[in-house]
Amino acid sequence: MFGWALEANQSPEDSHFQTAWRIVAGTSRDDVLQGLGALWDSGKTIGPQTNMVRWGGDALPSDMIMWWSVQVWDETDTPSCLAEPARVFTGLKASDWQASWIGRYFVLPAGRDVPQDALYDNRFQARPADYLRKEHALVAKPIRATAYVSALGLYELYINGMRIGENVMAPGWTDYHQRAEYHALDVTEAFFEGDNCIGAIIGEGWYSGRIGHNQRRAGNHYGGRPALLCQVHIEFADGRVECIVSDETWSTRQGPICYSDFLAGEMFDARLELEGWCAPDCDLSHWQPVEQIDPEPRLPQLDAARCEPTREVARLAPCSITALSDSVSIYDFGQNLAGYVELEVEAREGTEFRLRHGERLDNAGQLYTENLRYAVSEDIFIAAGRGGETFKPRFTFHGFQYVELTIIGPVTSPPKLTSIAIQTDTPQTGQIKTGNTMLNQLLSNIFWSQRSNFISVPTDCPQRDERYGWTADAQVFWRTAGYFMDTSAFLTKWMEDMIDGQSPEGAFPDVAPTKPLNPYRLTPQPGAPAWGDAPIIMGWQHYLRYGDHALLERCWQPFKAWMTYVEAENPDGIRRNQLNNNYGDWLTIGPETNRELINTAYWIYLADLMAKIARVLDRDAEPWLTRATRMRAAFAGAFIEKNGHLKSDTQTAYLLALDFDVLPSKHRSQAVSRLIELINEADGHLQTGFLGVRHLCPVLSDNGAEKLAVDLLLKETYPSWGFSIRHGATSIWERWDGWTQDKGFQSKAMNSFNHYAYGAVGEWIWSRLAGIDWYEEKPGYQRVQMRPIFDPRIGRVEAAYEAQSGCIKSSWRYEDEVIYWTITLPPGVDAQVLLPVGMMTEQGAQFALAPGHHTLKVTATKTMN
Ligand code: BGC
Repeated sequence: MFGWALEANQSPEDSHFQTAWRIVAGTSRDDVLQGLGALWDSGKTIGPQTNMVRWGGDALPSDMIMWWSVQVWDETDTPSCLAEPARVFTGLKASDWQASWIGRYFVLPAGRDVPQDALYDNRFQARPADYLRKEHALVAKPIRATAYVSALGLYELYINGMRIGENVMAPGWTDYHQRAEYHALDVTEAFFEGDNCIGAIIGEGWYSGRIGHNQRRAGNHYGGRPALLCQVHIEFADGRVECIVSDETWSTRQGPICYSDFLAGEMFDARLELEGWCAPDCDLSHWQPVEQIDPEPRLPQLDAARCEPTREVARLAPCSITALSDSVSIYDFGQNLAGYVELEVEAREGTEFRLRHGERLDNAGQLYTENLRYAVSEDIFIAAGRGGETFKPRFTFHGFQYVELTIIGPVTSPPKLTSIAIQTDTPQTGQIKTGNTMLNQLLSNIFWSQRSNFISVPTDCPQRDERYGWTADAQVFWRTAGYFMDTSAFLTKWMEDMIDGQSPEGAFPDVAPTKPLNPYRLTPQPGAPAWGDAPIIMGWQHYLRYGDHALLERCWQPFKAWMTYVEAENPDGIRRNQLNNNYGDWLTIGPETNRELINTAYWIYLADLMAKIARVLDRDAEPWLTRATRMRAAFAGAFIEKNGHLKSDTQTAYLLALDFDVLPSKHRSQAVSRLIELINEADGHLQTGFLGVRHLCPVLSDNGAEKLAVDLLLKETYPSWGFSIRHGATSIWERWDGWTQDKGFQSKAMNSFNHYAYGAVGEWIWSRLAGIDWYEEKPGYQRVQMRPIFDPRIGRVEAAYEAQSGCIKSSWRYEDEVIYWTITLPPGVDAQVLLPVGMMTEQGAQFALAPGHHTLKVTATKTMN
């Protein structure tokens, strides 16, 4: 599939649109730029399409780099030039793989040197990282070389001593018993004529390291030791192709990484550094042959990585350093994040630096680590005494804002610490600022919680012994996530993980990838309502955001299987069975909402979505509509009281019933009034958990209570988003009462300060405060729905969203009583505007906007209710 976006011209009179396009693709970048498409030239094709364009050339061979470009014509039939060509690797087919999985021997064959494993004794019994290498002589410098690499565990690739690529925690997390992803890396420049060396360092990661919270089976969830798969295709000027593969001719040994584990941390003893280990002339005396490994229970299917790799994305200097004693200091980096610290030191040989990580400090100013549960999160560096030395861990990450550094031994100068954030490098798509300082901090907190939890899969939190791909957390947050970052490839990958975890009966899992959640189960933990429902909800949102039918088509059968699974045990339309862990409105602080009500409301919502998906895919929507009607009647019978209240008289009950549109129309206005009453009874505060929170502001503002929605957003008293910010939050807390003046820290059993679910209010800030919303009938932001909410307490909003269809901007500001609103719509993208009741522009209160720039003057004729 190919796609491009057009930019709006600066002049307001210019509102061009695309009338035709042409794609050119070939193996040479320069030829493509000249318009020579050796692999495909679509020719001028009439139409406005800018996305989801299918490949029209012949089937492409594997191991090829292709360049492609596009040009477009506007309404005057004037062509653009060809865009800067983009590069595509075609990858390897299953039959192209000749490499074997290799790793360190498990049982040392007789006659081999016993390695000095005693050096690596540690309290966690965690394994040292393995170094692997292979020399290879080339008759000439290649004109092209591509390395295809994967690992059961984590890898870093080196050629001739040079680190290849910037991937960290690669190749990422999948259910390795089913699939492993591989990367294609351009390594042309790394090779020379003559002797060369390819090397890799492999660590345990999600494969055999510690993940999850079950101490009885802390590690080895997928296998016992990490392995590497590597195949390098080398092409010479005379057309010859050579292939270097991982096999039993490689050698291995262990080096300075004494252990490296997600939960334990990493210990690096620089005295054990293997100088020149990846250069052709290295001393091989302690190297052993590798063992060829047959992964159990089967060879994983090899998939080309669907998504950007995880990378280092930000570096932060400490904002304060507090000495607790001569040898212990606390560094505050001012931002809770997922990543690690880089340490620069000058110290005597053997001086030890211990870095403990935490999200908060306790009342005494000490590092608070109780909420990490069994995650030790300590990195240890032992200096070699070679002058300036730099350390950062390779195969671990932590969730932290504070680091406690303990130095054991002499140092020559004070160490320098830099905190490094990592994330799956999904492109940033949204920039948003408002005139309200607290709100800006909230937006920053949402962004950072997303960043910290986009690590190969969308996780719940990055700090404690958990870090799973919890499905409901992601589901409630997904619409928010899509504004800040391009989630299309990330979800396409994670959807496969969720499908991998689907049971033969159709149950989607609670977490994906699934293995570690419950090590006693041989099968994945089947999903609870709202958890197992996530794939359908997220798949639909993905379609609305990106206009991508392909993912819906891919998922149609799995979606149907889930619906069948739920329906099988719930014949009367109330969702009482197949509830699995039935979490309800998780971490609510108000009265408990009836779970059958929540579950049934979700189920009705799913049936509606299935009908919509069926229509998009040209399938029969009728059976889903019939089900939905039947379930609505059952819901009304079971959960609406005589006085019109819901049986579970809670904020979340009304929120779900209204937003999922499950109530008969005659009950809606009463439900809205009751919801408002409940908020007032709670002294103007929210009371929801994970499931209700997403619907709060949208439901209020869709039902005429915009001011109350903004009140909740800006509240600073407990419980509210502002409360956490007043108490120093730099990311979204898992619990409204993660810390309170009265009680201090919540239970250490479950209290993360970096959990994005309550950040789900972000979608409303973007869609309603900034007014940039999708339009169901024209998905992929071909049309924008703009229903902004102007509020003088917020003063101004400046938002730019890089949609699939181009960059959409919306900025408004109050000047006295007047609101000046500027909008930019990319070529081909129009908007439907609906102003809040009592607001006017010269065009009226409801109107369409053409592509291009617009400046509107909005005046209020009435104050908001
Ligand atoms: C996780 C969640 C998750 C929940 C479900 C927690 O431990 O952190 O965010 O949704 O469990 O029970």
